Amino acid sequence: MTTQTFPPVAQHHHKVFESISVPNRLLLGPGPSNSHPDVLKALALPPIGHLDPFYIDLMGEVQELLRYAWQTDNRLTLPMSGTGSAAMEATIANTVEPGDKILVAIKGYFGHRLVDMADRYRAEVSTIEKEWGKAFSIEEIESALIKYRPSILAMVHAETSTGVCQPLEGIGDLCRKYDCLFLLDTVTSLGGVPLFLDAWGIDLAYSCSQKGLSCPPGLGPFTISPRAEKKLNSRLGKVPNWYLDVSLLNKYWGSDRVYHHTAPVNMNFGIREALRLLSEEGLENAWNRHQLNARRLWEGFEKLGLDLYVKKEIRLPTLTTVQIPKGVDGKAFTLHLLKNHGIEIGGGLGVLAGKVWRIGLMGYNSTSENVDNILNLFETELPRFR
Ligand SMILES: Cc1ncc(COP(=O)(O)O)c(C=O)c1O
Repeated sequence: MTTQTFPPVAQHHHKVFESISVPNRLLLGPGPSNSHPDVLKALALPPIGHLDPFYIDLMGEVQELLRYAWQTDNRLTLPMSGTGSAAMEATIANTVEPGDKILVAIKGYFGHRLVDMADRYRAEVSTIEKEWGKAFSIEEIESALIKYRPSILAMVHAETSTGVCQPLEGIGDLCRKYDCLFLLDTVTSLGGVPLFLDAWGIDLAYSCSQKGLSCPPGLGPFTISPRAEKKLNSRLGKVPNWYLDVSLLNKYWGSDRVYHHTAPVNMNFGIREALRLLSEEGLENAWNRHQLNARRLWEGFEKLGLDLYVKKEIRLPTLTTVQIPKGVDGKAFTLHLLKNHGIEIGGGLGVLAGKVWRIGLMGYNSTSENVDNILNLFETELPRFR
């Protein structure tokens, strides 16, 4: 037997670290929100094999719970192993072929991400844009569909950068009238805002685990309607992204149950528990809770003389944008809340940087106690930053 000689082990990265300890935080920003304690318990269970019959059954339960949360019968409904952006990319990767026309209705930061992705898959991208803080009217959507004749209309339901909830009534019908698929980002709406994918004619949707579902980031729920599946099945070329190819993934998540990639089993334990908690509460109750707590927050800010960025009719219950008053150092106040009170709130993104704070009340965190806590801090501490 030959004895192999190794070079000396380099020591310059060999440092001594303490075992991990994470500060206590109340996450009232744009996401993630705090995980439900029962979800954390589920995540800490010992992993089992990703082809274990117990796990295979659990996968079916996750799919069924997701169908309930989204109100859809879509066969192909599954959590992508990746964050919301992975599921976002999956909707594009599977349905766009080079030269396909896609229309993106942009009203904030995440609309631009959809454009970037569609462009990378060599779609012919058209856009309509709305000022940040506003929503599209049905007439604006219809005239753009007539003008651009896309095969896909993509938009964000709950725009996390502005706090706007796009009204969806009638858009699915228009997409049928003009023969295009309706792709919807539900990252900041799933679990917190009414969503009826099938009744509203939504063909492709994606979300995340870390907001309304109160699970850590790491999974991206994805769903595709039979109508969109037809487009997938009539592709001329392969889906140009192996990892996100739903026809391959469906061999694992569908009836064959054959290996595709090693699923993050503990994340799926977590999301199963998160979705189970949502179904135990009931969608109507969860939506109602988000609405009531958001209203309590809005009224509280108004009493304090602070202006909200979005008008009431299209305000998102899961995320509120508050205008930073003139002369206040918004960033310093955000840092103060984090450092001295362990509370995270968000600053503005893109064109709203320095202009708004973003306060999230999502999933487990949508409680009247959290609302009162943050309002109290704005009342007592903000005057020091004026
Ligand atoms: C509306 C919206 N879409 C997409 C994403 C991307 O999700 P992720 O950061 O989980 O990849 C986010 C993230 O916050 C979002 O708010």
